[in-house]
Amino acid sequence: MTVIHFSRGIPPREAIPSAAISECTAALLSTEADRVFQYAPIGRHTGDQELREQLGKFHSVDPDRLFVTNGSLQALDLLAAHLLRDTAEPQVLVEAPTYDRAVQIFERHGARVSGVPLRHDGIDLDVLKERLRTDVPAFVYLIPDFQNPSGVTTSEDKRRELVRLSAEYGFTILEDIPYRGLRLGGTAPTSLAELADSTDGARVLTIGSLSKVLSPGLRVGYVIGPADMPRALAVLAESTYLSPAPLLQAVAAQALSHGLVRENIERVRELLRPRHDAAVEAVRQKLGDVHLCVPEGGYYISVHLPVHTDEVSFLTAARDDGLALTRGSAFYPADAAPPPGTVFLRLPFQALDPEEFAEGVRRLAAAAERAE
Ligand SMILES: Cc1ncc(COP(=O)(O)O)c(C=O)c1O
Repeated sequence: MTVIHFSRGIPPREAIPSAAISECTAALLSTEADRVFQYAPIGRHTGDQELREQLGKFHSVDPDRLFVTNGSLQALDLLAAHLLRDTAEPQVLVEAPTYDRAVQIFERHGARVSGVPLRHDGIDLDVLKERLRTDVPAFVYLIPDFQNPSGVTTSEDKRRELVRLSAEYGFTILEDIPYRGLRLGGTAPTSLAELADSTDGARVLTIGSLSKVLSPGLRVGYVIGPADMPRALAVLAESTYLSPAPLLQAVAAQALSHGLVRENIERVRELLRPRHDAAVEAVRQKLGDVHLCVPEGGYYISVHLPVHTDEVSFLTAARDDGLALTRGSAFYPADAAPPPGTVFLRLPFQALDPEEFAEGVRRLAAAAERAE
């Protein structure tokens, strides 16, 4: 039996324009080899200048507000170090479920990470407000577009209220948006950062990445924040790794300036559309109404699947049926869990053809039935 992998959220090979990136690299090396094989300029380096300019254009922001990192994971690490530095026992609030690596990073920097339940349209604001009454966190970490692992997009109304709460209580929001460009239908809600621009006292830092729209191997992530933020992060960067690799930053800048990222986003959307539609259909047909939302983009659909067994036994049985699944409870911080009597399953659809996905869901339904 061939194993069906509902596991990692990595771009499928056909979503990475390797040949075009190679061409950009060759063109770059013909003129810039001496520069990119040297150290980046020392002294509060905030990223390759051309790359920051290109990213600034891409997001319509001043390049002075940008700081480039080795993938957005490093942005999370540096921001955690920066934002948690002077607080004893800082608290961080996250959506439950959320991106597991982010939780690990925040905990490594000493945070007590607490989960606020995620609904079909974003974080549960009643629970959040209740928490804010007793304890104001150092920051709230959100993945507002096609969330990893659930696929949920935060609604416009909730975004407005979140930004208002940030101003009222004085906490920072980190919005992590690697999937935002991969919308397949409907209208994109306003980004939290844009809403914060018109809300006095609100503070939103945006974390972006080229991993899902160009190439994860280039390891280009970035932070967009107020103009004082890049320098503060540069101090931390300089004391550990100096700068991201000049070659990779320059390749990314070249790809952006040739329009390769926008072009690739269109291509990836066309690639994802049938996979998304088939995934939604298969889940509805074979599992019923157990999905957290219809994603309309990104990589993931997810379910709270009712089972009468524990997660480990369920995953073991599913593995025997040829299913590779990620442990869903790992996406919950320590103080949160899926609803009782269910297991949480992230089902990435980006790399599976429709038949394969449907077969995987059929096997899941059979495993769930046996576990009753
Ligand atoms: C929400 C989220 N943030 C950050 C990352 C890390 O991405 P990068 O490759 O930019 O480090 C991922 C990767 O899957 C992700 O899903």
